[in-house]
Amino acid sequence: MKILILGGTTEARELAGVLAGRADLAVTLSLAGRTVTPVPQPVPVRTGGFGGAEGLAAYLRDERIEALIDATHPYAGIISANAVRAAAQANVPFLALRRAAWQQMRGDQWIEAANVAEAVEVLGKAPRRVFLALGRKEIEPFEAAPQHIYLVRSVDPVDPPLAVPHAIYLTARGPFGEADDRALLERHRIDVIVAKNSGGEASYGKIGAARALHLPVVMLPRPALPEAESVQKVEDVVAWLDHAVTVAATRGV
Ligand SMILES: NC(=O)c1ccc[n+]([C@@H]2O[C@H](COP(=O)([O-])OP(=O)(O)OC[C@H]3O[C@@H](n4cnc5c(N)ncnc54)[C@H](OP(=O)(O)O)[C@@H]3O)[C@@H](O)[C@H]2O)c1
Repeated sequence: MKILILGGTTEARELAGVLAGRADLAVTLSLAGRTVTPVPQPVPVRTGGFGGAEGLAAYLRDERIEALIDATHPYAGIISANAVRAAAQANVPFLALRRAAWQQMRGDQWIEAANVAEAVEVLGKAPRRVFLALGRKEIEPFEAAPQHIYLVRSVDPVDPPLAVPHAIYLTARGPFGEADDRALLERHRIDVIVAKNSGGEASYGKIGAARALHLPVVMLPRPALPEAESVQKVEDVVAWLDHAVTVAATRGV
Protein backbone atom coordinates (compact mmCIF):
# COMPACT_ATOMS: atom_id res chain seq x y z
CA MET A 1 0.00 0.00 0.00
CA LYS A 2 1.39 3.41 -0.98
CA ILE A 3 1.22 5.96 1.83
CA LEU A 4 1.95 9.68 1.75
CA ILE A 5 2.70 11.39 5.06
CA LEU A 6 2.59 15.18 5.13
CA GLY A 7 5.28 15.93 7.68
CA GLY A 8 7.61 18.53 9.10
CA THR A 9 7.01 17.46 12.70
CA THR A 10 8.52 15.13 15.28
CA GLU A 11 5.44 12.90 15.10
CA ALA A 12 5.67 12.56 11.33
CA ARG A 13 9.28 11.42 11.66
CA GLU A 14 8.32 8.99 14.45
CA LEU A 15 5.47 7.60 12.36
CA ALA A 16 7.75 7.19 9.36
CA GLY A 17 10.23 5.37 11.60
CA VAL A 18 7.57 2.94 12.80
CA LEU A 19 6.36 2.25 9.25
CA ALA A 20 9.76 2.22 7.53
CA GLY A 21 10.49 -1.46 8.11
CA ARG A 22 7.12 -2.77 6.91
CA ALA A 23 7.14 -4.81 3.75
CA ASP A 24 3.42 -4.20 3.14
CA LEU A 25 3.79 -0.40 2.97
CA ALA A 26 5.65 1.99 0.68
CA VAL A 27 5.90 5.24 2.60
CA THR A 28 6.86 8.67 1.29
CA LEU A 29 7.24 11.68 3.58
CA SER A 30 6.50 15.15 2.24
CA LEU A 31 8.27 18.26 3.53
CA ALA A 32 7.55 21.86 2.64
CA GLY A 33 11.27 22.55 2.31
CA ARG A 34 11.37 25.38 4.84
CA THR A 35 14.44 24.32 6.83
CA VAL A 36 17.84 24.69 5.23
CA THR A 37 19.24 21.48 6.77
CA PRO A 38 16.31 19.14 7.46
CA VAL A 39 16.94 16.22 9.81
CA PRO A 40 17.41 12.82 8.12
CA GLN A 41 14.19 10.84 7.70
CA PRO A 42 13.70 7.07 7.88
CA VAL A 43 11.74 6.88 4.59
CA PRO A 44 12.07 8.49 1.14
CA VAL A 45 11.31 12.22 1.15
CA ARG A 46 9.81 14.52 -1.45
CA THR A 47 10.19 18.24 -0.89
CA GLY A 48 8.24 21.40 -1.79
CA GLY A 49 4.64 22.51 -2.22
CA PHE A 50 2.21 20.63 -4.44
CA GLY A 51 0.42 23.70 -5.83
CA GLY A 52 -2.63 23.87 -3.59
CA ALA A 53 -5.31 21.25 -3.02
CA GLU A 54 -5.62 20.57 -6.75
CA GLY A 55 -1.88 19.97 -7.04
CA LEU A 56 -1.94 17.60 -4.09
CA ALA A 57 -4.96 15.75 -5.52
CA ALA A 58 -3.09 15.36 -8.83
CA TYR A 59 -0.03 14.03 -6.96
CA LEU A 60 -2.19 11.50 -5.10
CA ARG A 61 -3.64 10.27 -8.38
CA ASP A 62 -0.36 10.28 -10.35
CA GLU A 63 1.54 8.44 -7.63
CA ARG A 64 -1.38 6.08 -6.94
CA ILE A 65 -1.30 6.95 -3.25
CA GLU A 66 -3.67 4.71 -1.30
CA ALA A 67 -3.71 6.54 2.04
CA LEU A 68 -2.89 10.13 3.00
CA ILE A 69 -1.80 11.05 6.53
CA ASP A 70 -1.64 14.69 7.54
CA ALA A 71 0.96 14.82 10.30
CA THR A 72 1.84 18.50 9.86
CA HIS A 73 2.11 21.02 12.67
CA PRO A 74 -1.18 22.22 14.22
CA TYR A 75 -0.38 25.77 13.01
CA ALA A 76 0.18 24.61 9.41
CA GLY A 77 -3.45 25.37 8.59
CA ILE A 78 -3.21 25.77 4.81
CA ILE A 79 -1.67 22.40 4.01
CA SER A 80 -4.04 20.69 6.47
CA ALA A 81 -7.08 22.21 4.77
CA ASN A 82 -5.65 21.34 1.36
CA ALA A 83 -5.06 17.76 2.47
CA VAL A 84 -8.71 17.26 3.43
CA ARG A 85 -9.88 18.67 0.09
CA ALA A 86 -7.32 16.78 -1.99
CA ALA A 87 -8.09 13.44 -0.34
CA ALA A 88 -11.79 13.95 -1.06
CA GLN A 89 -11.09 14.99 -4.68
CA ALA A 90 -8.78 12.03 -5.34
CA ASN A 91 -10.96 9.66 -3.28
CA VAL A 92 -8.04 8.60 -1.10
CA PRO A 93 -8.57 7.43 2.52
CA PHE A 94 -7.43 10.22 4.85
CA LEU A 95 -6.41 10.55 8.47
CA ALA A 96 -5.11 13.58 10.36
CA LEU A 97 -2.70 13.24 13.26
CA ARG A 98 -3.64 16.24 15.36
CA ARG A 99 -1.87 16.88 18.62
CA ALA A 100 -4.02 17.83 21.57
CA ALA A 101 -3.52 21.44 22.64
CA TRP A 102 -1.83 22.13 25.99
CA GLN A 103 -4.26 22.95 28.75
CA GLN A 104 -3.62 25.73 31.26
CA MET A 105 -2.56 24.47 34.65
CA ARG A 106 -2.57 26.09 38.06
CA GLY A 107 0.19 28.71 38.05
CA ASP A 108 0.07 29.33 34.30
CA GLN A 109 -0.50 32.94 33.26
CA TRP A 110 -1.63 32.70 29.67
CA ILE A 111 -2.89 35.68 27.75
CA GLU A 112 -4.84 34.66 24.65
CA ALA A 113 -4.08 36.89 21.64
CA ALA A 114 -6.26 36.67 18.52
CA ASN A 115 -3.26 36.95 16.16
CA VAL A 116 0.36 38.09 16.01
CA ALA A 117 -0.61 41.78 15.67
CA GLU A 118 -2.65 41.52 18.87
CA ALA A 119 0.26 39.76 20.59
CA VAL A 120 2.42 42.78 19.70
CA GLU A 121 -0.21 45.08 21.30
CA VAL A 122 -0.44 42.93 24.42
CA LEU A 123 3.26 43.48 25.12
CA GLY A 124 2.44 47.13 25.84
CA LYS A 125 4.36 50.37 25.50
CA ALA A 126 6.95 49.92 28.27
CA PRO A 127 10.12 48.07 27.19
CA ARG A 128 10.11 44.39 28.12
CA ARG A 129 12.40 41.45 27.55
CA VAL A 130 10.44 39.13 25.27
CA PHE A 131 11.13 35.53 24.26
CA LEU A 132 9.62 34.97 20.81
CA ALA A 133 9.04 31.22 20.54
CA LEU A 134 7.73 31.57 16.99
CA GLY A 135 8.94 30.65 13.53
CA ARG A 136 11.38 33.03 11.87
CA LYS A 137 8.76 33.89 9.24
CA GLU A 138 6.19 34.91 11.87
CA ILE A 139 8.08 37.51 13.85
CA GLU A 140 8.20 40.48 11.48
CA PRO A 141 5.13 42.18 13.07
CA PHE A 142 7.21 42.71 16.23
CA GLU A 143 9.15 45.38 14.35
CA ALA A 144 6.14 47.58 15.17
CA ALA A 145 7.27 47.49 18.83
CA PRO A 146 11.00 48.29 18.68
CA GLN A 147 11.11 49.34 22.35
CA HIS A 148 11.32 45.72 23.50
CA ILE A 149 14.37 43.48 23.69
CA TYR A 150 13.68 40.28 21.78
CA LEU A 151 15.18 36.84 22.21
CA VAL A 152 14.45 34.79 19.10
CA ARG A 153 15.08 31.05 18.84
CA SER A 154 14.70 29.45 15.44
CA VAL A 155 15.96 26.43 13.51
CA ASP A 156 17.54 28.55 10.77
CA PRO A 157 19.03 32.04 11.19
CA VAL A 158 16.60 34.96 10.95
CA ASP A 159 17.65 36.58 7.69
CA PRO A 160 17.20 39.49 7.35
CA PRO A 161 17.22 40.19 11.07
CA LEU A 162 14.37 42.13 12.67
CA ALA A 163 14.51 45.87 12.13
CA VAL A 164 14.66 46.57 15.86
CA PRO A 165 17.59 47.90 17.91
CA HIS A 166 17.71 45.04 20.43
CA ALA A 167 17.35 41.43 19.37
CA ILE A 168 19.31 38.32 20.30
CA TYR A 169 19.18 35.32 17.97
CA LEU A 170 19.68 31.68 18.86
CA THR A 171 19.59 28.85 16.36
CA ALA A 172 18.54 25.55 17.89
CA ARG A 173 16.40 22.57 17.07
CA GLY A 174 14.07 21.01 19.66
CA PRO A 175 13.16 19.12 21.71
CA PHE A 176 13.68 21.69 24.46
CA GLY A 177 13.54 20.50 28.07
CA GLU A 178 12.15 22.52 30.94
CA ALA A 179 15.43 22.84 32.85
CA ASP A 180 17.27 24.18 29.79
CA ASP A 181 14.44 26.56 28.92
CA ARG A 182 14.26 27.80 32.49
CA ALA A 183 18.02 28.49 32.44
CA LEU A 184 17.60 30.31 29.10
CA LEU A 185 14.76 32.49 30.41
CA GLU A 186 16.72 33.34 33.56
CA ARG A 187 19.96 34.03 31.70
CA HIS A 188 18.21 36.53 29.42
CA ARG A 189 16.02 37.92 32.23
CA ILE A 190 12.91 37.33 30.13
CA ASP A 191 9.68 39.08 31.27
CA VAL A 192 7.20 37.54 28.86
CA ILE A 193 6.98 34.77 26.25
CA VAL A 194 5.03 34.76 22.99
CA ALA A 195 4.21 31.22 21.90
CA LYS A 196 1.97 28.92 19.93
CA ASN A 197 -0.09 26.23 21.61
CA SER A 198 1.72 23.51 19.69
CA GLY A 199 0.84 20.65 22.03
CA GLY A 200 3.13 17.64 22.47
CA GLU A 201 6.30 17.30 24.49
CA ALA A 202 9.04 18.73 22.28
CA SER A 203 8.32 22.41 22.88
CA TYR A 204 6.55 22.26 26.26
CA GLY A 205 9.74 23.09 28.18
CA LYS A 206 9.20 26.85 27.95
CA ILE A 207 5.62 26.55 29.19
CA GLY A 208 6.66 24.63 32.31
CA ALA A 209 9.59 27.01 32.79
CA ALA A 210 7.28 30.05 32.49
CA ARG A 211 5.00 28.56 35.16
CA ALA A 212 7.93 27.96 37.50
CA LEU A 213 9.23 31.51 36.98
CA HIS A 214 5.74 33.12 37.17
CA LEU A 215 6.08 34.57 33.68
CA PRO A 216 3.13 35.40 31.43
CA VAL A 217 2.79 33.60 28.09
CA VAL A 218 1.03 35.39 25.24
CA MET A 219 -0.55 32.48 23.37
CA LEU A 220 -1.50 32.61 19.69
CA PRO A 221 -4.66 30.74 18.65
CA ARG A 222 -4.57 27.58 16.56
CA PRO A 223 -5.92 27.95 13.03
CA ALA A 224 -9.36 26.46 12.50
CA LEU A 225 -9.07 23.17 10.64
CA PRO A 226 -11.72 21.43 8.55
CA GLU A 227 -13.56 18.47 10.02
CA ALA A 228 -11.77 15.23 9.27
CA GLU A 229 -11.17 11.86 10.83
CA SER A 230 -8.32 12.44 13.24
CA VAL A 231 -6.31 10.85 16.03
CA GLN A 232 -3.84 12.27 18.53
CA LYS A 233 -1.15 9.62 18.74
CA VAL A 234 1.28 7.92 16.37
CA GLU A 235 0.12 4.45 17.47
CA ASP A 236 -3.46 5.35 16.53
CA VAL A 237 -2.31 6.15 12.99
CA VAL A 238 -0.59 2.77 12.81
CA ALA A 239 -3.78 1.02 13.96
CA TRP A 240 -5.80 2.94 11.34
CA LEU A 241 -3.32 1.93 8.63
CA ASP A 242 -3.38 -1.72 9.74
CA HIS A 243 -7.14 -1.64 9.33
CA ALA A 244 -6.83 0.04 5.90
CA VAL A 245 -4.32 -2.62 4.77
CA THR A 246 -6.68 -5.40 5.89
CA VAL A 247 -9.63 -3.82 4.08
CA ALA A 248 -7.54 -3.37 0.89
CA ALA A 249 -6.33 -7.00 1.06
CA THR A 250 -9.90 -8.27 1.51
CA ARG A 251 -11.00 -6.20 -1.49
CA GLY A 252 -8.08 -7.58 -3.50
CA VAL A 253 -9.27 -11.13 -2.81
N1 LIG B 1 3.54 26.52 11.26
C1 LIG B 1 4.30 26.12 12.26
O1 LIG B 1 4.28 26.67 13.35
C2 LIG B 1 5.20 24.93 12.07
C3 LIG B 1 5.98 24.50 13.15
C4 LIG B 1 6.80 23.38 12.97
C5 LIG B 1 6.84 22.72 11.77
N2 LIG B 1 6.05 23.17 10.74
C6 LIG B 1 6.10 22.43 9.49
O2 LIG B 1 6.58 23.30 8.49
C7 LIG B 1 5.94 23.08 7.25
C8 LIG B 1 5.34 24.35 6.72
O3 LIG B 1 4.43 24.86 7.67
P1 LIG B 1 3.54 26.14 7.34
O4 LIG B 1 2.87 26.57 8.60
O5 LIG B 1 4.35 27.10 6.56
O6 LIG B 1 2.45 25.47 6.36
P2 LIG B 1 1.12 26.08 5.72
O7 LIG B 1 1.09 27.55 5.96
O8 LIG B 1 -0.04 25.30 6.19
O9 LIG B 1 1.33 25.74 4.18
C9 LIG B 1 1.75 26.69 3.22
C10 LIG B 1 2.13 25.94 1.96
O10 LIG B 1 3.34 25.23 2.15
C11 LIG B 1 3.29 23.98 1.47
N3 LIG B 1 3.44 22.90 2.47
C12 LIG B 1 3.25 22.97 3.82
N4 LIG B 1 3.54 21.82 4.41
C13 LIG B 1 3.93 20.98 3.42
C14 LIG B 1 4.38 19.63 3.41
N5 LIG B 1 4.50 18.90 4.54
N6 LIG B 1 4.70 19.09 2.18
C15 LIG B 1 4.60 19.81 1.05
N7 LIG B 1 4.19 21.09 1.01
C16 LIG B 1 3.87 21.67 2.19
C17 LIG B 1 1.97 23.94 0.75
O11 LIG B 1 2.21 24.48 -0.54
P3 LIG B 1 1.29 24.11 -1.81
O12 LIG B 1 0.01 24.81 -1.60
O13 LIG B 1 2.09 24.58 -2.97
O14 LIG B 1 1.12 22.60 -1.78
C18 LIG B 1 1.11 24.88 1.57
O15 LIG B 1 0.04 25.46 0.87
C19 LIG B 1 4.93 21.96 7.48
O16 LIG B 1 5.51 20.76 7.05
C20 LIG B 1 4.74 21.94 8.99
O17 LIG B 1 4.43 20.67 9.49
C21 LIG B 1 5.25 24.25 10.87
